[in-house]
Formats: sequence, C-alpha cells, structure tokens
Amino acid sequence: MNEVSDSLQLLIESLRLAKKFLLDTLEKSNLNLNIYTHLDADGLSSGAILGKTFLRKRIPFQIRVLKQLEKEEIIKLAKDAIDGAKFIIFSDFGSGQYLELINHFQLDEAQVPFLILDHHLPQEVSNKEDPNIEKIHQDSIPWHINPYFYGIDGSTEISGSGLCYLFSKIIDKKNVDLSPIALVGATGDIQNRGSNHSFTGINSYILKDAIEADLIDEVDDLSFSPIKPINEAIAYSNNINLPGLTGNSSTTLKFLKTIGILMENPDGNIRTLNDLTQSEKRDISSKIIEYALKYEIDPDIITQNLIINRYILKNEVVGSELHELKEFSKLLNSCGRSENASLGIAIGMGDRRIAYQKAQENLVEYRKKISNALNWIQKDGKIKEMDYIQYFYGEDVIADTMIGTIASMLNFDRSGIINNIKPIFGCSKRETKGVYKISARASNKVVAEGVNLSEAIRKALSLSNLDELGGGHPPAAGTVVPIDKIELFLKNCDKIIKEQRHITNDTK
Ligand code: C5P
Ligand code: ZN
Repeated sequence: MNEVSDSLQLLIESLRLAKKFLLDTLEKSNLNLNIYTHLDADGLSSGAILGKTFLRKRIPFQIRVLKQLEKEEIIKLAKDAIDGAKFIIFSDFGSGQYLELINHFQLDEAQVPFLILDHHLPQEVSNKEDPNIEKIHQDSIPWHINPYFYGIDGSTEISGSGLCYLFSKIIDKKNVDLSPIALVGATGDIQNRGSNHSFTGINSYILKDAIEADLIDEVDDLSFSPIKPINEAIAYSNNINLPGLTGNSSTTLKFLKTIGILMENPDGNIRTLNDLTQSEKRDISSKIIEYALKYEIDPDIITQNLIINRYILKNEVVGSELHELKEFSKLLNSCGRSENASLGIAIGMGDRRIAYQKAQENLVEYRKKISNALNWIQKDGKIKEMDYIQYFYGEDVIADTMIGTIASMLNFDRSGIINNIKPIFGCSKRETKGVYKISARASNKVVAEGVNLSEAIRKALSLSNLDELGGGHPPAAGTVVPIDKIELFLKNCDKIIKEQRHITNDTK
C-alpha cells in the first residue's frame, strides 16, 4: 500500500511540473491548445476530462480523436501544428510514439511544444522492468507523463483517463467530480482485473475519490458472459462448475425456466446477462448456490466465482447505459468505433440530451454489427491456428475500427469459440491505406505465462523489416501491416510468442 502511495506521490509531482509547463507556455505564447486522443472508451474519457477541465478554466481548446498515432498521422499533425501555432496534448497515446513525436515536433526549427499523458509502454521499452525506462523518464521531464516511470503498471493500475483525471485535479481539485469518467476509461481498458473484477493500484485511489464524493457505489453482480444467451453463458462459464448444468445449455435453459426467467426480450431477441434486471440476477444467484449445495459444492467457492463487483454511477438515471461503469464504457466505445467519437466526448463532458440520445441510437446499430460479427466468426474455419497463436481476418464483416473489440470479446469468451491458451490476432483491411489493422489480445493466464504482446508485435515488425509503429500492453497490443506482408508478420508473431513461452518455461 505504501509503495503505491510513494509512486503516486512521484507521479503527482511530475503532473505538477507538467501543469506548470503547460500553463506557463500558454501564458507566454499565443499558441492554440489542441488535444489529440484515442478513439476507444479510455481515449474518449481522457478527452472529455481534459475538455471539461479547460472549459472550466476558460482556456480555449480543440479536441481531435484519432484511430491511432501512426507514422503518417504524426507527420501530418506536425505540419498542421507548425502552421497553426499549437500546443498539443496527446492523451491515451503518445508514449509508444514519443521518439517519432520528438523527431517531428521538436527537432523542427519551429518547435511545437507538446505534453503526453499516456499509460502505454513507451517506444522501445519492452516491459515494465526494462532499465531504459528511468533514462527515458529523466530525458522527458516535464512533457512526458507515463505510469511506468514510477513503477506503476499502466496495463492494470491506471489508464489514460486516470492520468488525465489526476492532472485535472491538480489544475483544480473541484474536478474530483470527473473521477467516475476516469473509471469509465479504466473499465473500457479492462483494468478492473483485481479479485471479483475490482480496481487495483491508482485506479483504486480514484475509486476512493469517487466513493467519497458520493458519485459511485460498489455492488455485486453475476460473473457470466454478458454477450451470450443467458443459458449458454451459465452452461459455458469458466468461472463455475455445476454438475448437470455446466456444458449443457438445454438443461441450463430448463433450470432458468423453473426460476421463471424469460429467455426472450419483448422484441424477440434472446436475452443475455445485460438484459436481466437486478432482481432476476439475485434469483439466479441464490438458485445457483442452492443447486451447488445439493451437489455438496463449497458455497464459498461458488460465491467467490459467481459474484463480481460492478460500479454504479449514483447521479445517472437507473436503467440507462450511464448508470453502470461497464455499460457507460461500452457506450463510449461504440461512439468511437463507429465514427461518432464527438458524441462520446460530449457525453463524457456531461451531455445527457442530444449527444446521449444519438449515441443510444448508434449503440443499437453498433450492437447489431457486433452480434453479426460474433455469429459470423463462429463459422467453420474463420479462426485459424498456428503453433503458438491464432488469428482471423475481418473480411468484409469486421471493420478496422471494430477488430479490437471483437478480438477482446473472443479473448474473454470461455465457451470454446477460440483456443484460450493462444493469443488471438484479429486482422482487418483498411483498404484506402493498403494495410491490415492488427489487434492482438491474450488472457491474463497467457500473460502470466510470459507472453507480452506489445513486445511481440514490435519484434515481429522488426523481424519482418517493417518500420510501422506498434505496441500497447502485454495483454492487448496493435499495429498496421502492409497487405502483402501479413503472412510473414503473423509467422513472425508465432515465432516470437514461442520464444516468449520458452524463455519463461526455461527460467522456471
Ligand atoms: O488497436 P487495438 O485496440 O488493438 O490496440 C490495443 C492496445 O494497444 C490499445 O491500448 C492501443 O492503444 C495500443 N496500441 C499502441 N500502439 C499501436 C497500436 C495499438 O499502443 N500502434
Ligand atoms: Zn487506454
């Protein structure tokens, strides 16, 4: 606990220097403040927190949302920045590209000042133990804020929006009311990976802020897949084992009927966990515990695996997507991934009218696309296996903006759609650019066994002689690969993952 607070203190001191750097530079110059942020829920939450902060401080700003800070994009941004006299904040990306940013922004005569608030592994850093981290940190004060500089794990303990929140609170402590949005971002990045899906590290400090400000409540919920029909979600749950129900979706269906759970929504769609009311969930949970007792299964084990933490936003309308962190983050994600990023930013900044309404409409469409994609991907032969990885192509069904979401969903599925012991690589063509967008995901277990996808992607790019930027976190990373190099790249990923597994096995 003390260690976390020591590192938090160091992080906060750096954020103070960053604040001074930003405010002094803006005061001395006539620069326009521009925020560039990532299109996922964490990136949009980051943008919303920064936007709200500068709006309250009456500092004019503009926000732009990007798919990723790719090389080509950086060159374009640098040109715009010089022409447009800008101060740039990069949120939820920038660390993985910081050398490119230095090259294109600072070495130029015009010198464009920028600030990075990011939680990804920095460029050329392979893991959190990498000895180069300290040097990168020292060389980049005050303009580069990254949790790895302070021994904080950016993959699990703080997100981009968490950093923006801490920064915002340093600018004005009244911004504590933005703490729920920081947790929306952390949830979007699946950082609630503590026991029962709780937050750990700095995220738990942010949660404490939100609870103390009476903005969030922690409640219990069922641990089943929220995307499967509820009978299948229970039958194929990896969390619990119930003789007679596990592995058998038709007996599970009968079990649910005896409890009185309807299997269809009024619109005829099959119900998932997301569709159940709190009271239905309570009924299911108590009947499952009763069922387990009949088979003399320790009720503590069942309860531990059956119940997870969910976080309720107390000021939001009950039953709306915004009432629960996970659903809120999904709404933002759906905005970002269907070319409606500005709606997500507006909602994060507090719009509950037009932007929220439009985002809800968009969500219906987005869910249809996701559900189509998930049905389609389960057809024979779509998921291909190599020795150490598995991969799939989005073809004309999964767009490049959605490939990461589908890869994440498959990664969390435990019903056998994918082989959970191998990382999964989703590849979707971005036709206009002649590249595949790659999204790689691995389970916690696979990461604990030594797999680091950020490192694997960077090494595979280099082995394939590609100079694209790539990276992310050990369990989730991405890049782009020219269409004609995809097979070579995947083969090299397979090779690197094999090495990562063997290195850990050898050292065991
Ligand atoms: O794009 P995708 O969702 O697959 O990315 C997974 C993770 O890797 C995200 O956190 C993303 O920000 C990060 N990433 C990165 N650099 C890239 C591509 C993705 O840091 N070039
Ligand atoms: Zn993030």
